[in-house]
Amino acid sequence: MSRIALLGCGGFIGSHFLDAFLLDPDVRIEGWDWTPAKILPHLTNPNFRFHSGDIYSQPDLEALLSRCDVVVSLAAICNPSQYNTKALDVIDSNFIQARKIADLCAKLGKWLIQFSTSEVYGQTLAHWTGAGDSNPALYEMGEEETPLLLGPIASQRWSYACAKQLLERYVYALHKEKGLYFTLIRPFNFLGPRMDFLPGRDGDGLPRVLACFTSSLLDRKPLPLVDGGGARRTFLAVEEAVAALRLMLERPGLARNQIFNLGNPANETTIRGLAESMRKAAADLTGDATYLSLPLVDVTAEEFYGEGYADSDRRMPRIDKALRLLDWEPRQGLPEILHRTLEYAFRIHGR
Ligand SMILES: NC(=O)c1ccc[n+]([C@@H]2O[C@H](COP(=O)([O-])OP(=O)(O)OC[C@H]3O[C@@H](n4cnc5c(N)ncnc54)[C@H](O)[C@@H]3O)[C@@H](O)[C@H]2O)c1
Repeated sequence: MSRIALLGCGGFIGSHFLDAFLLDPDVRIEGWDWTPAKILPHLTNPNFRFHSGDIYSQPDLEALLSRCDVVVSLAAICNPSQYNTKALDVIDSNFIQARKIADLCAKLGKWLIQFSTSEVYGQTLAHWTGAGDSNPALYEMGEEETPLLLGPIASQRWSYACAKQLLERYVYALHKEKGLYFTLIRPFNFLGPRMDFLPGRDGDGLPRVLACFTSSLLDRKPLPLVDGGGARRTFLAVEEAVAALRLMLERPGLARNQIFNLGNPANETTIRGLAESMRKAAADLTGDATYLSLPLVDVTAEEFYGEGYADSDRRMPRIDKALRLLDWEPRQGLPEILHRTLEYAFRIHGR
C-alpha cells in the first residue's frame, strides 16, 4: 500500500490526481487545501482524508507527513494576473512557504515531488539573441542544458518564475547537502476540466487563459488576445500529466533526483491559435456555427494585466527524459483536449 501526502489537492491538477489515484484501492491519500469545492465526490472515499485551511498552519502537518511515503506538493499561487500585482504574495507562496515543505521532507527522509513550472526557463535564447527560430537549440527547453533566462526586476511578472526557480535550487541544495530525495516537475500548460474559475459563475478575478476564453465563449463575448496573442505554447492533457506521475511513483529508482519537463511538443500553437481552436471546439460541440465568428480583440498586456507584465515568447519542451526513464509519451491532440474541456464547461455552466 502506498500513502501519499497531496498538498493543494483541491486545485486543478490535484482534483485530477485524486480522480486517477483513488481508483487504486491500495492507495491512501492525505490531502490539504483551502477548500474542497472541486473534489466533493472524493470526500466520502475512505481512502482519502481531507484537511481544510492553510497548509502551513496545520499543527499536525509534520506528524501526518511522517506517516506518508511520498509528498506531492502542488500548493501555490500560480495565476499570471497576480505575478505583477501581488508579487509579495506570489514569492511568499512559491518560495518562502513552499520551502518549509522541502525542509520537512529533508528532516523526515520523505521523497518530495515538487511542482515547479516551465516558466523557470523564462524567455528563449532566440528571443534574447534576436536570432529568430530557425535553430531548435535556441528555443527548445531541456531540463539539464537550457539556461533559465528571466527578465528585469521591474518586470514584476517574473516574480513567479524566479520564486519557483529559487525553490528548485533550494530543493536541489537540500538533496546535495542533506540527502533529500526529490523530483521536480516543470509543467508546460496542462489543459482539462476544472482549471481555475469562471468569473461571475464560480469565482471572481482574472483566471488563466483557458478559463478566460471559456468564460468568453459561454457569455458569447469577444476573446481577449494579449499583445496580439502571438506567444507560442504547447498544451498537454492534464490526465496525461497525472499518468506521468503514476509512472514516477511506480519507478522511484528512476524518477528520484530528477527534473522532468511534462508537456506535449506536438500541440504547439499561438494563443491566437488557441482562441481559434476553442471557438471551433465550441461550434462543433453545440452545432452552433455562430461561435466561429465571435471576435478576437487585441488588448495590451498593460491594459489586461497592469504594469510590469511581460510574456515569454515560446515554451517548447524537450521530453526525451520522460520518454527514456518513464516510458511516458503524450498522445492527445489539442482539438480532442479542448473538446472534452469545453464539453465539461458547457455541461456544468450551461450555454
Ligand atoms: N496547471 C498548469 O498548467 C501548471 C503550469 C505550470 C506550473 N504549475 C504548477 O503546478 C501546481 C498546481 O497547479 P494547478 O494548476 O493545480 O493550480 P491550482 O491553483 O488549481 O491549485 C493549487 C491549489 O493549492 C491550494 N493552495 C495554495 N496555497 C495554499 C495554502 N497555503 N493552503 C492551502 N491550500 C493552498 C489552492 O487553494 C489551490 O487549490 C502549482 O505549483 C503550479 O505552479 C501548473
